[in-house]
Amino acid sequence: MKKPNRCSMVGMLLVLTLTTQPVLASMNLALDKGCLSCHGSPPRGKTPTFTQLAERYAPLKGQESQIKEKIKHLREHHLFGGVPAHERLSADEAGRFVRWLVDGGH
Ligand code: HEC
Repeated sequence: MKKPNRCSMVGMLLVLTLTTQPVLASMNLALDKGCLSCHGSPPRGKTPTFTQLAERYAPLKGQESQIKEKIKHLREHHLFGGVPAHERLSADEAGRFVRWLVDGGH
């Protein structure tokens, strides 16, 4: 077995940092906002888990106008069956979540 040299170690660390950071930020955000109390596993009642939502959103990849629609829709106030946690999201937070889900949610 060849020992990895210093250069490839640094490269690996860089890749790890670049790929895990945004995901962690989203998940921390989800925890902070209590999203996982409904969307976690097991989910509350019929709430779709983030994994299921990611599957539902996957076809939106690259469809910028549809993604924007989703972001707007998520934060809209619904008279019946609205989720206050959704309505409290800022445009920025909602955007990050929706895009995170479109990208696979992991
Ligand atoms: C009180 C429970 C509850 C909480 C807390 C909650 N959700 Fe939801 N969420 C739901 C339910 C129920 C649905 C499915 C009904 C629907 O689609 O509106 C849903 C749907 C969604 C959808 C899909 C919307 C669509 O129509 O495509 C997204 C995205 C989402 N939630 C994100 C979040 C995020 C991000 C948070 C944290 C800020 C959050 N949710 C917190 C219950 C909750």
